[in-house]
Amino acid sequence: MPTNVDWIEELATSGLAGRALRQAAMEKLDELPGYDWSGIYLLKGDHLHLDAYVGAETDHTVIPVGVGVCGTAVAERANQVIDDVRELSNYLSCSVHTRSEIVVLIEREGEILGQIDIDGHEVGRFTAEDEAMLTRLAQLLAARWTEAS
Ligand code: SME
Repeated sequence: MPTNVDWIEELATSGLAGRALRQAAMEKLDELPGYDWSGIYLLKGDHLHLDAYVGAETDHTVIPVGVGVCGTAVAERANQVIDDVRELSNYLSCSVHTRSEIVVLIEREGEILGQIDIDGHEVGRFTAEDEAMLTRLAQLLAARWTEAS
């Protein structure tokens, strides 16, 4: 699906930073078709901590590195694009409706600050185009990073 990134450039000129920027970005992502849960996890030590998000409440507010799709992204230092989570053994379910998931790392000068995590109800919803868009967003979030607002 062609992905328009103008809204990211608009966010960049908004003056927002830190958590306020991350929350605004998640609200924008939530408007995209098939983005059914959009959130940010912060990496603190060897755990990921849920930060800004839009979507249903999740039990997975703290995730150890190496566990689930989110923890695997950090352990392997690699974005994750999952077509069908039902095929994974190492998966933490946030919703019975979730089929696809994408995790894009937020990095600054070689340090992993956190990640953007999106769930979709459609199988194979996320493509390289989504990854490219979320990578651009991750760069903006990293440039305006503070853990608080
Ligand atoms: N599914 C993720 C957990 C986070 S929820 O999707 C919000 C995982 O397997 O790590």
